[in-house]
Amino acid sequence: MTDYFPHLDYKPEMPKRLDRGIGIVGAGGIVNYAHLPAYKKAGFRVVGVVDKQRDRAEHTAQQHAIPHVYSTVDELLGEDDVEIVDVAVYPAEQGEIVRLATAAGKHLLCQKPFADEYSTAVRNVKLAEQAKVKLAVNQQMRWDAGIRCARLLIDDGWLGTPTYGTIQVHCHTNWSLWPWIYQGKRVEIMFHSIHYIDSLRYLLGEPSWVFTSGSRGPAESTGAETKTVTVWDYASGLQVVIDVCHTTWQDDRYAIFRFEGSEGVIKGTIGLMYNYPTGQPDTLEFMSKRNSQYWFSGRLDSMWIPDAFVGPMASLMCAIENDSEPETSGRDNLRTLQVVFAEYRSMAERRAVRPEEITA
Ligand SMILES: NC(=O)c1ccc[n+]([C@@H]2O[C@H](COP(=O)([O-])OP(=O)(O)OC[C@H]3O[C@@H](n4cnc5c(N)ncnc54)[C@H](O)[C@@H]3O)[C@@H](O)[C@H]2O)c1
Repeated sequence: MTDYFPHLDYKPEMPKRLDRGIGIVGAGGIVNYAHLPAYKKAGFRVVGVVDKQRDRAEHTAQQHAIPHVYSTVDELLGEDDVEIVDVAVYPAEQGEIVRLATAAGKHLLCQKPFADEYSTAVRNVKLAEQAKVKLAVNQQMRWDAGIRCARLLIDDGWLGTPTYGTIQVHCHTNWSLWPWIYQGKRVEIMFHSIHYIDSLRYLLGEPSWVFTSGSRGPAESTGAETKTVTVWDYASGLQVVIDVCHTTWQDDRYAIFRFEGSEGVIKGTIGLMYNYPTGQPDTLEFMSKRNSQYWFSGRLDSMWIPDAFVGPMASLMCAIENDSEPETSGRDNLRTLQVVFAEYRSMAERRAVRPEEITA
């Protein structure tokens, strides 16, 4: 077999038109340190912003040179120049904005989690389909360099038949960035591991069964889970382990992925989770029987924040352009949410759960 080094073109596919007007709802942390820096790099055009707390919208507009600050969501939706509504509010607030925006005929990029109840997510998808607008969910980890490279290598046959996959993140999360998450009834899976769930579905497909154990550190004030260990079982024999702990006080924190298959291994680190939200580039190493079992490493020169945040918006714009489905469409995200809620049911009932058990 001839040796070759794969060309890993992991940057997002860009739309032909970059100038579709974007209107932002919610001017909080993630919009300021991720969405807007990413859109600036990509050359996207942000028309205006609205926030319940007007001073936040004004501050954001000033910091990022956004021309309009709206007083209400309705005012933003009444703006003809806004073609895409980019929502970044709390999940319980997102459903009402989807209802209003679809009625106004706007395309939508929603934040993850798409909804805090599965039935709301199903309703959101139906609203968008009935209104014939495109709806994507901001599951941007799929465009994180290490994950996208793993997908390219898998598609190119370097792994062969997948036999094992894992994402393991033992980090120290500063919940003061999201006090409203920490005091809620669902924390780790709903707001964090949802990225790993979506990325693992993207890489390895749909699990048949999921089993989750959830817990928290001894001194924690939340009543919800901040550390989880999950096993996914596939009909093919593939096994997946997701192991996440947000209370790692030790100084050897780690955030790794590893995929094994009949032909090779792909492994690396998730740079963002070493010092969120600054992060560092991911690392990537891989080996395959098809290339004499030499180890290769990739040099990845982009970051999860902000670079990966170009992906979902670019994919939405491509879908508008081609009348196709965005890669992380609302309909696709229903499968991610089924796994999320199956993991919660598993935790509560201490049994393996099929994602299909979760219905509206
Ligand atoms: N994709 C990611 O990786 C990622 C990372 C962090 C946060 N998030 C998600 O983004 C969302 C926002 O998180 P954040 O960290 O920016 O929170 P934040 O508290 O910093 O900001 C939220 C903002 O939304 C505003 N808001 C709330 N409801 C509103 C409404 N109905 N209309 C207008 N404005 C409203 C608030 O006033 C606030 O300014 C959450 O759903 C969170 O899960 C996603």
